[in-house]
Amino acid sequence: MNVARGVTISLCLAAAMVVLATAATRAAAADPDGTKIFQDQKCAKCHSVQTAGIAVVESKEGEAEEADDEGEGEAAAGTEEKKNPPDLSAVGTKHDDKFLTKYLNKREAIEGKKHKKRFKGKKEELDALVGWLVTLKDEAAAKAADAARK
Ligand code: HEC
Repeated sequence: MNVARGVTISLCLAAAMVVLATAATRAAAADPDGTKIFQDQKCAKCHSVQTAGIAVVESKEGEAEEADDEGEGEAAAGTEEKKNPPDLSAVGTKHDDKFLTKYLNKREAIEGKKHKKRFKGKKEELDALVGWLVTLKDEAAAKAADAARK
């Protein structure tokens, strides 16, 4: 009978959807949070992470609003802007979590320079992001990525 068959088909579709949705959730959960936050916070506008398959997202509009305006050397901005942000595949070999947390909040500097962008998310997000960054230790990939950009 038609109605019964229709119901059966809908039930099957619903079941299939649940299975698919579960699979998608699981895939997202398997991904470390850090990579998602990295993308959400637009870090990928400037930085690639070769080992995580993250390339720099080129974007013409909104470039200006990405850089913090509160600060250090507006005059120097012209020259600073030209400096290529490094690939972060090996950032975990250079800095520890305490340093990175401060650096991304612009409370710490590298070679006398603070970071371009203050982290705008929640503290937990910064923790997750930094927790992921310190696991990045592939120097060969970082060098290759930086070389490819010059
Ligand atoms: C507007 C471009 C820009 C954005 C957006 C940006 N950065 Fe950077 N970042 C730089 C530049 C340029 C440097 C190199 C140091 C400098 O010149 O200030 C740098 C340096 C770093 C360093 C130090 C790397 C090293 O090898 O010592 C880390 C870590 C870092 N950024 C993480 C992040 C994270 C995480 C985000 C996202 C929350 C982010 N950056 C967003 C431009 C950017």
